[in-house]
Amino acid sequence: MEKIMVETSPPLKGKVRISGAKNSALPILAASLLGTEDIILEDVPNLKDIEVMCEVLTSLGAKVEKLDKGIIKINSSNINNYITRYELMSKMRASFLVMGPLLTRLGKTKTSLPGGCAIGTRPIDLHLKGFKALGATINSDHGNISAYADKLVGDKIYLDFPSVGATENIIMAAVLAEGETIIDNAAMEPEIVDLASFLNKLGADIKGAGTSTIRVKGVKKLGGGVHSIIPDRIEAGTFMVASAITGGDITVENVITSHIKPIIAKLKEVGCEVIENGDSVRVIGNKDLKPTDIKTLPYPGFPTDMQAQFMTLMSLCKGTSVVIETVFENRFMHVDELKRMGADIKIDGRSAIIQGVDKLTSAPVKASDLRAGAALVLAGLVADGVTEIDNIYHIDRGYDGIEEKLSSLGAKIYRK
Ligand code: EPZ
Repeated sequence: MEKIMVETSPPLKGKVRISGAKNSALPILAASLLGTEDIILEDVPNLKDIEVMCEVLTSLGAKVEKLDKGIIKINSSNINNYITRYELMSKMRASFLVMGPLLTRLGKTKTSLPGGCAIGTRPIDLHLKGFKALGATINSDHGNISAYADKLVGDKIYLDFPSVGATENIIMAAVLAEGETIIDNAAMEPEIVDLASFLNKLGADIKGAGTSTIRVKGVKKLGGGVHSIIPDRIEAGTFMVASAITGGDITVENVITSHIKPIIAKLKEVGCEVIENGDSVRVIGNKDLKPTDIKTLPYPGFPTDMQAQFMTLMSLCKGTSVVIETVFENRFMHVDELKRMGADIKIDGRSAIIQGVDKLTSAPVKASDLRAGAALVLAGLVADGVTEIDNIYHIDRGYDGIEEKLSSLGAKIYRK
């Protein structure tokens, strides 16, 4: 199995351009099933997860063509299959996002229950609550889940938790339903806003995306259109932390600074200089970083997808830092790996107490999920020796060319 090797690297310096957001491209690709004319998506990141979602769309009868780097053309006018194959769902649980579009477009959908993953059980009860409220009948047996409805009728849906995926799936089911759907306690992530903006280009009528109350007025059908995916705020944050941890000076280009406010705030709290300049942000690290505390929350709080990367940084901040993970129940899998590299971290339920150490040392480590993998790469940049990271398929799922981008900034990183 290929591994990523990271050697002690000098302070990273230079400019890096951020790719389109994985967590926006995936729901927007799923939503492309709702269109009946050509759809062109631009700034689509080159990731394994995107390849899987394109395979899913093709298996459902959509025409998917990669026109150029980052540009994908989809035509779903003749989709004819409502069943998502197990082997595709098992590769990527976000395939579950095709349920809403299929249910409203074809009146039925069937797929295998999406598995959990390292960070948690990842239930789908809120997705199903929304589908039922719109009039769908849900059946589940032998690991499969199916939903069908002769007609979907808009309704008021309260989400017990502002789930990103449930908000997306319910919006997609509601766009062709009869009447108005109101989603209360909806997720407010920028990726929800991007999805709504894409669907409105196709002719949907969605208001309130980005707030906790989203109104969807059903329309008869959706057409086609052109849409550019928003920049990946988590990839941006990962490179910003790379500058902080190596005491470097990196300008991250193609960002929307309003999407990364919590990351900017926390980097300033640990002592970095952060300069916002339109669609780029410059982060100047230093060697005497101070401790801080982090509590992950749904947007606009500190993103859970940045928790592991920040914990690596905090393991070198002189003093005591505390991380509280409120979004997922098991998102500390990177802690044991960081401790193998000399970090001093104690877990107490949903909290982790980090005592800053003078240095980290290299060790063979394993990525347990996408963001934990990124956290280990960051640790390898400043650890003494050569850090060998296994299970790097996790990293390839969510980072478009991480070695090339880091190497261009001076990092010593390669695959073996
Ligand atoms: C999306 O996952 C992202 N994935 C995740 O990014 C991200 O961490 C997460 O949102 C939170 O921001 C994609 O967009 C493809 P949730 P999602 O539904 O939609 C509970 C990454 O690293 N919940 O908001 O699955 C659930 O158990 C990935 O890029 C229910 O209880 O997240 C969890 O505790 C990791 N019932 C919490 O909500 C449900 O029906 C957040 O889950 C659904 C969710």
